[in-house]
Amino acid sequence: MQQILFIHGPNLNLLGEREPEIYGHLTLQQVNEQIAAFAAKCEVEPLFFQSNHEGQIIDFIHKHRREAVGMVINAGALTHYSYALRDALESVQLPVAEVHLSDIHRREAFRHVSVIREVCLAQISGLGVESYCRGLEVVLGFLARQQLKKLLNEKVSSDDAYRACVKILKRDFPKYNWVGIYLVEGNELVVHNYLGAPTPHTRIPIGQGICGAAVAEEQTIIVADVNADPRYLACSLETKSEIVVPIQERRMYGEIDIDSHTPNAFHEYDQKMLEGMAKDLAEFLDAIE
Ligand code: DQA
Repeated sequence: MQQILFIHGPNLNLLGEREPEIYGHLTLQQVNEQIAAFAAKCEVEPLFFQSNHEGQIIDFIHKHRREAVGMVINAGALTHYSYALRDALESVQLPVAEVHLSDIHRREAFRHVSVIREVCLAQISGLGVESYCRGLEVVLGFLARQQLKKLLNEKVSSDDAYRACVKILKRDFPKYNWVGIYLVEGNELVVHNYLGAPTPHTRIPIGQGICGAAVAEEQTIIVADVNADPRYLACSLETKSEIVVPIQERRMYGEIDIDSHTPNAFHEYDQKMLEGMAKDLAEFLDAIE
């Protein structure tokens, strides 16, 4: 299993008793238990560390830089001034997500500044423990894109590339309950491969449904609540939200379509990662066509 470091900075050992109206009532151990449960669903092994000392945090990052594949860090107040931590994160070249329990942008001015933001993939703040889970998804998204890129460089067939893309996404993101690729054939989208419950929609006219709309409009569509969107072609009662990302460079090849049983499951970072993967796929297809 891939190892991900979860690092908590100064004063986070006091969670539960430290300003619970800001940081919540969970202790650090309870926070870690919730993160571990989510990490297990993502099939990653979390390695937790908390310290009140800048140098110890840096030593921990150095020590685990080779066996870990990524990091999620709540650096506490070090976020706002530690250039040494910033340099450590940059030096080890692991994908990192910066997270905070509280919304640092709605608090004192000094907390609005993060000196580590620039060397992190994303900053997620204000969601309590959920910030760490989303941070993990950001790191996994980066790794998923890297994995697909590596495979595309091995000059696989387009069929294998489409299958690998679906497989990687379904495996790494528990909230992606149905993942499929549709390809443009004339005026229709035809399903190429998918993982998840069987779908009756194997052919969709371009322009119809959310899938058809994304290709017609040549842009990503995120639907937070499918039942409130008249375009939605219902296939499973469990589906609550959907994202559709066109695969397009020189021409429109098709799209990545993902359904989730969680309402409002798709965020900006999902979109960024999926658009990145769709771009890599489309460039690969341009090159072999
Ligand atoms: C924090 C926010 C920081 O400003 C603060 O110094 C912390 C915790 C958070 O999780 O909200 O110690 O990172």
